[in-house]
Amino acid sequence: MTLGTSTGSHAYGEPSYWDQRYRQDPGPFDWYQKYKTLAPLFDLYISRSHRVLLVGCGNSTLGEGMVSDGYQDVVNIDVSSVVIEAMCQKYEDKPELKYIKMDVRDMNTFESGSFDAVIDKGTLDSLMCGQNAYHNAKKMLEEVGRILKDKGIYILITYGDPSYRLQLLKDLHLWTITMHAIDRMEKSPEQKTWELTKPLPLNKDGTSLNTAIGSNAEVHYIYVCIKDECLRQQAEAKEI
Ligand SMILES: C[S@@+](CC[C@H](N)C(=O)[O-])C[C@H]1O[C@@H](n2cnc3c(N)ncnc32)[C@H](O)[C@@H]1O
Repeated sequence: MTLGTSTGSHAYGEPSYWDQRYRQDPGPFDWYQKYKTLAPLFDLYISRSHRVLLVGCGNSTLGEGMVSDGYQDVVNIDVSSVVIEAMCQKYEDKPELKYIKMDVRDMNTFESGSFDAVIDKGTLDSLMCGQNAYHNAKKMLEEVGRILKDKGIYILITYGDPSYRLQLLKDLHLWTITMHAIDRMEKSPEQKTWELTKPLPLNKDGTSLNTAIGSNAEVHYIYVCIKDECLRQQAEAKEI
């Protein structure tokens, strides 16, 4: 399933849409990719003792997969109270997994610099489908940047290629960006478009990806954004 291609894609940006959807279809359901296929990438960037936040968790099994694989502190948030109540019940015997109803655009319950990693699978994409997409996306990314420690990592798994996502991420002057890609449908090692753990070459506007994997590659793009306090300070100094 791809966000933004069905009719009425605006609804993906509305909390009421998600409550209704989770009431009708309690899942579990994973958008884009499951933990098993992403695990080698997480191994590269996140350690088992890190405090991790999954934003817009839905009823995905990503958190469960991570905890079963040794991650010790995985906090999940979602704007839908329906899904959060269901997930709290489902995982009440797993103290490593926490579920909290929260809007990713306003995470004031979390202190600044309190997470080592934030994982986003499909949540920025859903905000980008809604009304005031750019404004909401910026609010979300500012909040993600705030709650991350310096050198903390935001992993964005999305269908949005660099022409749709790179400038938005860069505009915040918050992080350095490394790109990865994973086939939408699992392929044998010989048929893979790109090795997941190998960073893609990334030039200023992202057009280097076309050379590496082609402009119509059937992949999910993964932006690994490493927070660097110095970038914000440098950008602010330039403005003065
Ligand atoms: C495309 S689904 C992805 C679900 C899950 N991450 C996955 O990979 O299967 C988008 C999720 O974002 C949540 N969401 C939408 N807007 C949100 C917001 N403002 N704050 C927090 N969660 C939000 C929705 O409730 C939904 O669960």
